[in-house]
Order: sequence, then C-alpha cells, then structure tokens
Amino acid sequence: MNNLYILLNALGYRLINPGLSLTASLTSLCLLSIAPVAAEPLAVEALLKRGYLDDYHSNVVFGYRIVTETEKYGARYTGNRLRCSNCHLNAGRQPDALPLNVAGMYPKWRSKNGRRNGIGLRIRECFVYSLDGIMPPEDSPEVLAVAAYISYLSHGEVIGNAPPGRGVPTLPDTGYDPNPANGKAIYVARCSACHGEDGYGKAGAPPLWGMDSFNGGAGMADVHRAAGFIWANMPLGSERSLTHQDALDVSAYINMQIRPGDPRKSKLLKLFESISGLVE
Ligand code: HEC
Ligand code: HEC
Repeated sequence: MNNLYILLNALGYRLINPGLSLTASLTSLCLLSIAPVAAEPLAVEALLKRGYLDDYHSNVVFGYRIVTETEKYGARYTGNRLRCSNCHLNAGRQPDALPLNVAGMYPKWRSKNGRRNGIGLRIRECFVYSLDGIMPPEDSPEVLAVAAYISYLSHGEVIGNAPPGRGVPTLPDTGYDPNPANGKAIYVARCSACHGEDGYGKAGAPPLWGMDSFNGGAGMADVHRAAGFIWANMPLGSERSLTHQDALDVSAYINMQIRPGDPRKSKLLKLFESISGLVE
C-alpha cells in the first residue's frame, strides 16, 4: 500500500514535471522505497568525535561517559572506586555481562524493593548498592543521561522481550554447596594477579571487596549471580575456563570478605529517610 502510494506520487510528479524523464522518476521511486528503512544509530565512538550534538545525542554521550568514567562524571553520587562498566562490560554492550540494552523491559515489578520500577529507579538503585553511593534524584542530569544511553543501546530490541544474553547466565546446580576454601585457592591462582592479593584492586582492575567495593545490598553480592558473571566473563581474557563449581566457590569466597554493609539495614540511613524523604 505504501509502495503504491509512492509509485502514484512519483508518476504524478512526472506529470506535473514533464521535463523529467521516466528513468529519473523511476530512480526517485527506488530511492523513496529504500528511505523508510530505519537507519542504524551512529556508534558512540563516532558521536564522541563530533563537535556538535543535538540534545538527545548529547545526553547519550553524557550517559556513556557516566557509565565508563563513573568516578568523574557520576562523582556526585558515587561512594566507591567502581565504574558501571566494571560490571556492565564493554559499556553495557556485552551479552552475558549485564548488557544495558534493556529499556524495553521497564517498567518492571521488582521483589527487591516491592514496587514497580521505571528505568530511572533501576539506575538510581545501582548508585546506591553497586556504587555504594547516594540515590540521585529522579530528574538529575545523570539519571536522565544514563536513561538516554540505555534507550539508545536498546535500538532494534523488541519492547517487552528480554534481549539475548540479558543479565548473566544462570549456572546449572552442581549438586554441591559453595566451598569458600577451594574458592580461596582459585582466587590466589586465577584472580589475584589482577585484582590484588588483598582483593582491593590494582591499576587496571577494580576492587572485589573492601570499603571501595560494592556493598552488601548489590546484585553482585548474590553468590549465584556473581558466579554466573565470573564464569562467563572472568578471568578476563580466559573467560569460561573455570568449572561451574570453581566459579561458585570463588564467588562465595569473595562474598565472605569485608565490604560496606547493605544500606537498607542502616539505622543512620533510616534516620535520613525520615527527615528528608531523600531516599525512597
Ligand atoms: C558491582 C557491579 C555493578 C556495578 C558497578 C553496576 N552494576 Fe548495574 N547491575 C549489576 C548487577 C549484578 C545487576 C543485575 C542485578 C539484578 O538483576 O538484580 C545490575 C543491573 C542493572 C540494571 C538492570 C539491568 C536489567 O537487565 O534489567 C541497570 C539499568 C543497571 N544495573 C545500571 C547500572 C548503572 C547505571 C551503574 C553505574 C551507575 C551500574 N549499574 C553499576 C551490577 C553492577
Ligand atoms: C587479566 C586480569 C583479570 C583477571 C585475571 C581477573 N579479572 Fe576480574 N576484572 C578485570 C577487569 C579489568 C575488570 C573490569 C572490566 C572492565 O572495566 O571492563 C574485572 C571485573 C571483575 C568483576 C566485576 C567488578 C568488581 O570489581 O566487582 C568481578 C566480580 C571480577 N572481575 C571477578 C574476578 C574473578 C573472581 C577472577 C578470577 C576467577 C577475576 N576477576 C580475574 C580483570 C581481571
């Protein structure tokens, strides 16, 4: 129907422009029929090189910078040395590594906070738990920019359908409980060269525990979820080389170490909440 309309248009155009040859009309017809195909968005790397950006794309670029250099561009609300992209690998563009092309999955009910979450609240919660920071206001430039970046990454996904490789793989039940003693041996042999013997991170690799890591309420503090992340993505460069059981054991070891507490259990935070209404 659409094509017929275009054809009639092109012919009509020829009638009122008799000087134009039929070949020219047909060429324009071909061009018109290609035109409706949705253009691929420009890669962020290309956007970064542009001197001038429209409002939407400048938010996308700001969101990308917050995700990849959180300590600089998200500094107002962060509380540790992590970046979003330390866990959302390749700036949220890697399947099985918590990809961020999930705009079409929200709003979504979450048992974690017992309410429907829009993408804004989901972003704000990662600041509170994974970044062990404070909750940015809903309409802060940071939250709006990360939301723009997330919808940009979601281009081409089907709204309401989980994109392939969402989250991290769920490892099959090995039949054995996590064994942190074996986890410690795996950590020393396979992880400590990058993340440090003390787990506090080194230049180029983020902390896995200690007061500069994610807190006890973060998604990564869940032993099974972290095991799925570790199995699929670590050791960086030799991913998927650990057995499922080794991934589970090292995850249990990491999550036994000291880290900031879950802020939902903090009396001080409860006090702030009651006086300022800052944190929902
Ligand atoms: C310590 C690792 C870590 C860091 C750092 C981190 N996240 Fe996450 N994030 C996770 C995990 C794990 C999940 C999945 C948790 C769940 O399903 O409850 C997640 C989930 C999300 C989701 C929902 C994804 C989905 O599939 O629905 C969004 C959006 C998100 N994070 C945004 C951010 C932003 C923005 C930052 C930086 C401000 C950030 N995260 C920092 C670990 C992290
Ligand atoms: C070759 C270096 C290297 C090795 C070895 C390595 N990692 Fe990582 N790991 C990294 C880097 C770098 C990142 C952050 C990735 C990024 O920012 O793109 C990371 C991120 C992580 C994260 C998410 C961020 C955080 O700080 O919580 C976890 C969890 C993790 N690694 C666990 C492990 C475990 C467990 C092992 C051993 C089985 C391991 N890593 C081995 C380099 C390494």
